[in-house]
Amino acid sequence: MIKKCLIPAAGYGTRFLPATKAIPKEMLPIIDKPLIQYGVEEALEAGINIIAIVTGRGKRAIEDHFDKSYELEHQIKGTSKEHYLTEIREVIDRCTFTYTRQIEMKGLGHAILTGEVLIGNEPFAVLLADDLCIGEEEGILKQMTELYKKYRCPIVAIEEVDKSLTHKYGIVEAKELEENVFVVSNMVEKPKPEDAPSNLAIIGRYILTPDIFEIIRNTEPGLGGEIQLTDALLKQAKNGMVIAYRFKGKRFDCGTPDGYVEATNYFYSKLKN
Ligand code: G1P
Repeated sequence: MIKKCLIPAAGYGTRFLPATKAIPKEMLPIIDKPLIQYGVEEALEAGINIIAIVTGRGKRAIEDHFDKSYELEHQIKGTSKEHYLTEIREVIDRCTFTYTRQIEMKGLGHAILTGEVLIGNEPFAVLLADDLCIGEEEGILKQMTELYKKYRCPIVAIEEVDKSLTHKYGIVEAKELEENVFVVSNMVEKPKPEDAPSNLAIIGRYILTPDIFEIIRNTEPGLGGEIQLTDALLKQAKNGMVIAYRFKGKRFDCGTPDGYVEATNYFYSKLKN
């Protein structure tokens, strides 16, 4: 039912400078695979094969990554190293990639709105590549697309965070409807711990409905002067229903050195076992 996944990837990645000066932060590898490829594989597992990427200046490596490199194919074909290309070849074969550029960085809401041209009038997934997620049995997007079939409304993935960290996330106030599924009554972008309505933090996986575009168009800049997706979703929560889903699995915040190292250790230990 959900066929498209929007990946906002225009941000500067300032927290990882100078590594991200000439390469996109989405291309930083965890062991041997760039972050964004983990995200695309998660979308594929959920049956989503149209990948809509909002890029920006200096992000061409993403397009090259999801394209055939004839020179490399020629060099490696028939050699013992060919298996290194198996996974990425499969991703390229199974997905269609579409791109548009965000000219100015005006927040996550603005990035989503920039992607409207790639999405059109249908529900879609959003994946933030620096949140690297491992599902318990199924991937997070797969869990969320299943839930969408039941509720047919926007869904945000959440996890409980330490109260001292609320200033890093969109925080929801919500009432449990069934196990791990909550109805959102309020959401605040990056509140101070003392202002946070709970410790339920939004992480970078969403299922959105196409009416969000018009709502974002009419959303005033919020925190940091940016157009916040959280503010637009709050309007949907007030006028209809938004679900917060406590996913089954693990998330690494690869936008920070701690999360990045944790993810690297996790995949390295899997490689060794
Ligand atoms: C964005 C959202 C925030 C959410 C977070 C998840 O913030 O604005 O609500 O909690 O992603 O990673 P960012 O991390 O892009 O500043």
